[in-house]
Amino acid sequence: MARSGDTLPFSRYMALALYAPGLGYYSGSARKFGAAGDFVTAPELSSLFSECLARQCAQVLAAIPGGSILEAGAGSGRMASDILTELARLDCTPKQYFILEVSGGLRDQQEETLRERVPQLVERVTWLQGLPDPGFKGVVLANELLDAMPVHRLRVEAKGIREYHVGCEAGRFVWRLRPVGEPGLEDAAARLRDSLDEPLAPGYVIELGLAQPAWVASMGERMRAGAMLIIDYGFPRRELYHPQRAQGTLMCHYRHRAHADPLILTGLQDITAHVDFTALAEAGLSAGLALSGYTSQAFFLLGNGLSEALERRGAGVRPDYLAETSAVKRLTLPGEMGELFKVMALTRGVSEPLQGFSLQDRRGRL
Ligand SMILES: C[S@@+](CC[C@H](N)C(=O)[O-])C[C@H]1O[C@@H](n2cnc3c(N)ncnc32)[C@H](O)[C@@H]1O
Repeated sequence: MARSGDTLPFSRYMALALYAPGLGYYSGSARKFGAAGDFVTAPELSSLFSECLARQCAQVLAAIPGGSILEAGAGSGRMASDILTELARLDCTPKQYFILEVSGGLRDQQEETLRERVPQLVERVTWLQGLPDPGFKGVVLANELLDAMPVHRLRVEAKGIREYHVGCEAGRFVWRLRPVGEPGLEDAAARLRDSLDEPLAPGYVIELGLAQPAWVASMGERMRAGAMLIIDYGFPRRELYHPQRAQGTLMCHYRHRAHADPLILTGLQDITAHVDFTALAEAGLSAGLALSGYTSQAFFLLGNGLSEALERRGAGVRPDYLAETSAVKRLTLPGEMGELFKVMALTRGVSEPLQGFSLQDRRGRL
């Protein structure tokens, strides 16, 4: 983009803004998660989240003897340490806990967190350089992983579609519309539009993630037995590409302020897009996995004993009980994370119904 007039497809810009070595948001060493960072994820809010997830892992691990856990995109390492703590309490710690993480800075932070919080279990943790070899058995966890993968941004026009690119003008990044470049993207957009009940009106902005279903399919093909649990914000396809979301779902986070302009604070802010859960289910099925559950985060956590976990901590006795009940509200209330965040389970060789989907299962809506 050195010359004026040069542009990059938005998906490439997003990939560089988040992951360019040394410059991308996730490559830097600044704190990202929690009160001192830019945004709060569920495992940072309260360890109750990871305790519930651990109980779902325990059920799968009981069905898959010798299984491990593989967490992709492990953030600060907090979820890994809380899951290991709860599994140890339940006396079913897996021999190995793998972490797949693209950011070198976060890998260091994860190791530090684990050494500090679970020194007795850190030897079980191994960082992978890439997807596991085929034959993986156990649980794959992806919390807010897929919303951090790049998306293509397209605009519906009276005749066909064009792709949003990013250019540079007077030292600032600006939007540019260009013919669709990448082979296959136009076909993917056409398939998407054909699958919707209502046509998308001219001006509609489509965010199309090709990397997300591709990741689910590649991971699924490597799973010999077990469950992949995907937790993220998003919707089934029909709801995601609803006329009400005509401007897309891009969201940026910088120091606890959320806004929709990815062209500012490049490399300093997080950029995310909602996930198309129908596309993820299709990708899992194409890899031979079974769709074993889809529900909201609230129902998933309650199905995995959230209320009991809170009670176990001793209602009214501990001084931080109030903070914990307020975290539970944020994790479960529909206006907070409870409804926007969904959980999907894709499994192979697990016949038992998963407890996280026992209270409500919305597979029919996909
Ligand atoms: C929004 S953060 C979520 C972190 C953590 N799961 C949490 O909930 O606190 C996204 C994480 O995914 C990682 N990531 C993004 N793309 C990845 C990929 N293809 N493989 C592994 N990790 C990835 C990022 O570096 C970061 O750790």
